[in-house]
Amino acid sequence: MSLPTDALLDAAATHGTPLYVYDAGELDAALNRVRAAFGDARVYYAMKANPNLTLLRRLLAAGVGFECVSSGEVARAEHIGAVGTELLVNGPAKSEAEYAAGSRLGATFIVDREEEVALLPPASRALVRVNPALAVSTHDHLATGALGSKFGVTPAQVPGVLGALRSAGHTALGLHVHIGSAIRDAGDFTAAFGCLTDLRDVTGPLTVLDAGGGWGLDADLAGIAREARRAAQAFGAELWVEPGRYLVARAGQLLTRVVGTKRTGRNFVLVDAGMTELLRPMLYGAVHPVTALWDAAEQGVWDIAGPACESGDVLARDVILPNPGRGQLLLFGEAGAYGAAMSSTYLTRSRPAEVLWEHGRWTVMRRREVPQDIWSAEE
Ligand code: LLP
Repeated sequence: MSLPTDALLDAAATHGTPLYVYDAGELDAALNRVRAAFGDARVYYAMKANPNLTLLRRLLAAGVGFECVSSGEVARAEHIGAVGTELLVNGPAKSEAEYAAGSRLGATFIVDREEEVALLPPASRALVRVNPALAVSTHDHLATGALGSKFGVTPAQVPGVLGALRSAGHTALGLHVHIGSAIRDAGDFTAAFGCLTDLRDVTGPLTVLDAGGGWGLDADLAGIAREARRAAQAFGAELWVEPGRYLVARAGQLLTRVVGTKRTGRNFVLVDAGMTELLRPMLYGAVHPVTALWDAAEQGVWDIAGPACESGDVLARDVILPNPGRGQLLLFGEAGAYGAAMSSTYLTRSRPAEVLWEHGRWTVMRRREVPQDIWSAEE
């Protein structure tokens, strides 16, 4: 994504920093890439990646549904008018409130364990999540289909859960698999879908195969789509997918301003964003591409650190940058997914504003918080 530099300077001047900036063109392009690869599969956006109402409304208008994993996410979907077949309610430990809201809205539930069959509201539509117990090419914290992960039922449990759903009067639509997030190797999906198709003889034909999300930004999308379609065909099923990151990551960048520099054991450039705005480098060792919006005659190797009173508050290490100075601006890319969504108010830091670039101008998607927003629920 490349937003015009003068537009970025203007956004920083008008809306302040740190600031999440999004490019509407790249949002649309990502959905088009998904549709081109997956054909007529039904797309459910995993809104945990970025639940901003502006993004949700755009996606709903484009015919996309939502995967929700909390009462709050279901409430967001309801707030923008999504109902019925536009909603999936998922999660390994759903609350009574989530079952009730999902049922009231006519959502489909993703059943994560055998015991849940007895907890579902009467006559629910359900998919059974399968854990294929695979090692996948991503960070350990992002692997959900591994042997030790808490998600889904074992392949051996699948016929029993499908049978229990049917005897309890629910509609067992089919199977669901989501092996993790930011997965680089398309072969991991081939293995996961293969594990499901191995169940074909015991399950018989199914209505839906939900192939989840988890596609790394550089993964072979066409290859993943081909394997997912093949698996759905094996069951005579319709294909559903649940991308989060892929739909929004590249559209979003975190714009931050240089507060100053210091040269101690290392060269630090201190910026006004940190772990409260972009947690992924600290939590997963994620590397977000950095773009400096200035030029300088000399360049150096810099660590980019934030303002928090924690030594882990380092956004990037060993980045080659033109030598920075106070007031200059830099961008962390691929931050549209799990960036703003995982920002926090730790240290009573106000979460940043979010702005969208469309038709040559910025619109505010979320205003910058003020400290009063943060303590407003306190006595
Ligand atoms: N479906 C299910 C059942 C999921 O649990 C998730 C993500 C998705 C779909 C979407 O996965 P995606 O396409 O976005 O990879 N906070 C982490 C990512 C956690 C993802 C959790 N589940 C990060 O910042 O990388």
